[in-house]
Amino acid sequence: MRAGEFRRGDDPGRKTMDKVFDARTLDAIYEVMKRFKVDLIDYPVSTGKESVVFKAIVRKKNIAIKIYKMSTLGFNSVREYIEGDYRFEKEKLSRSSIVYVWARKEFINLRNMEESGVKCPVPIGVHKNVLLMQYLGTSLKPAPQLRNYNGDDIAVYIHSAMNQYKNMVEKSLLIHADLSEYNILCYRKNAYIIDVGQSVPITHPMAREFLNRDINNMIVFAKKAGILQNELALPTFYHSWPEDPHKLLRKQ
Ligand SMILES: Nc1ncnc2c1ncn2[C@@H]1O[C@H](COP(=O)(O)OP(=O)(O)O)[C@@H](O)[C@H]1O
Ligand SMILES: [Mg+2]
Repeated sequence: MRAGEFRRGDDPGRKTMDKVFDARTLDAIYEVMKRFKVDLIDYPVSTGKESVVFKAIVRKKNIAIKIYKMSTLGFNSVREYIEGDYRFEKEKLSRSSIVYVWARKEFINLRNMEESGVKCPVPIGVHKNVLLMQYLGTSLKPAPQLRNYNGDDIAVYIHSAMNQYKNMVEKSLLIHADLSEYNILCYRKNAYIIDVGQSVPITHPMAREFLNRDINNMIVFAKKAGILQNELALPTFYHSWPEDPHKLLRKQ
């Protein structure tokens, strides 16, 4: 769908979008297309329960646009990841606004990771429930998730993923909280960490549990590929959780 076509109700692209998104989301997409000069929303890369990711084109370059669905983002399930996060302490959460906070949280986490040198899609912008970021992949197809990667060098990507996760925890002081072979993309010999809306700072009350869960997921996946736990680079916090996480954050 091209920018000029978006407002016309008779446009086939708009009609398809009408079925998938509510009116507020359609307005947000329209605003994003104007503000970020999006020339074309190409095709959906992924359609999940809570979000849809599109490949789009801005000044001849590919970008990714992730749109959170208003209706299916469960209020209670996302709340626990926002309420313990000091960055959103002052936020008033309602059923209709939580999805905007969620999109902004993913944007801020990506920015934080990028600043610490963690491989992730570079964030471009966020407006309401629409997030724009670097697209990982070629014009023909997106970079594969680690679970679908079937090259001989899968070990390279598993080790790379653990190194990136270690950086995320130790440098960004963020715990992914949904790390698995689904949320790691294999791109140009490096693993990229994606889907960080739910990621929380190490001061979140559940941070340690989330860290253990993330790492256990990766240990199970690595084992299936013949890599043992002691061969993986694990964050130091896995073995010894910091006594005062708040102090570490203040130093950051
Ligand atoms: N920046 C990106 N570049 C290429 N593909 C992406 C990008 N972000 C997401 N994807 C694809 O879309 C899928 C869903 O994105 P994700 O952020 O994991 O959302 P969710 O799992 O919440 O639906 C990913 O598994 C990946 O295949
Ligand atoms: Mg995901």
